Amino acid sequence: MRGLHRIKKILAIFLIVGLFMSSQGLAVYAGATDLGAAAPEQGGPGADTGENEEVLQETGSGAPPAVNYSGCLVRQGWSTITQDNGICGGVPGVWLTAFKANLVNLPAEGHVGICYQVNLSGSGWLEWAYDGAETGGPGGEQPLEAIRMELTGELAQRYDLYYKVLQNGAWTPWAVNGGTAGQEGVGLWIGAIRVSITAKGAGEPAEEQAFPMAVDPSRPMIALTFDDGPRTAVTSRILDSLQANGGRATFFMLGSNVNANAEVIRRMVSQGCEVANHTHDHKYISKLDANGIISQVGSTNQKIAAVCGVTPGIMRPPGGYIDGASLSVLGSMGMPAIMWSIDTRDWEHRNPQKTIDAVLSKVRDGDIILMHDIYTTTADAAQVLIPALTAGGYQLVTVSELAACRGGMVPGHKYSQFR
Ligand code: NI
Repeated sequence: MRGLHRIKKILAIFLIVGLFMSSQGLAVYAGATDLGAAAPEQGGPGADTGENEEVLQETGSGAPPAVNYSGCLVRQGWSTITQDNGICGGVPGVWLTAFKANLVNLPAEGHVGICYQVNLSGSGWLEWAYDGAETGGPGGEQPLEAIRMELTGELAQRYDLYYKVLQNGAWTPWAVNGGTAGQEGVGLWIGAIRVSITAKGAGEPAEEQAFPMAVDPSRPMIALTFDDGPRTAVTSRILDSLQANGGRATFFMLGSNVNANAEVIRRMVSQGCEVANHTHDHKYISKLDANGIISQVGSTNQKIAAVCGVTPGIMRPPGGYIDGASLSVLGSMGMPAIMWSIDTRDWEHRNPQKTIDAVLSKVRDGDIILMHDIYTTTADAAQVLIPALTAGGYQLVTVSELAACRGGMVPGHKYSQFR
């Protein structure tokens, strides 16, 4: 009970902070969505940064200036926009091929901009790019090896620009104001990047704002799972909250929803979430013969792989209906069946508070939590649960990460938790 009280207390704090932030942060968020659309395509050494005035955001919200940035991930395309000091990238085995950044929330008077120069494998240092312009080799396979960044404009003296990269499994130290982050020419690639603008002399950005992709096996962890989606309007809100809190989740999706929601599926992958299989048409697989199961599960895996490059390794039987025969067919396909230990029944009551209570009243280490990312009310609940569970000390991990820390999975077997 003590743990529950603590979570409720933390929850109350988050609700208050959340309300405050939503009143203060709207302008920043609106600015963030402009990065791709407004990015000028040219820019180089000596380019007049004044030409890019229209991409500069002046929100007048009083919030400090921030950097928004995005990396192009090999074979996956541009990541969604990462906000100041967040981790862009970090997918195991995936490197950045290109980069772009801009500043938001700028002072109304005076000018400050951002420029950056990447070292692209095989090409060396490229020309400097400015204020949202892409640089690197976006469509290619060559990795970025190192990066330099600087502030421009007469207000540049007011700020420091910090940045670091994930290389060879470790973060480099912060580089600042034109220094080089990353080692070029030694066969290493940039797997992730963090950038932050701070007031001059304020020192390095806070480390606690960044969340490592790595799981600490000694700490409590749970797997949030979302079925029957994706539905972009709902799923993207859940991904926003996961991104803001450094968490991941598993999405058991229907093959029939894949093509219409391809972008949000790619976003799942770029955030380290797990794409998983819930059959093509929500069929109860215990009622199908072997060919029917192979068709329903196989076609869904193919569709998911086609849009995001990742083939699911786990599935959840619709309705939870599974028997020995269907399990053995899954075994022949190399897949385990994933059940759950906490059923929120979000689909039934459509009440965010009931979903929140269902989780917080009994959550414990190793749980697999069942929700559905097709209801607005589920996104409402997730936006409260994700920060509350994180603050309560739980690592929000994928089912496969949870299993890997707790003894693993065997194809053709079913699992409802990993203690
Ligand atoms: Ni379902």
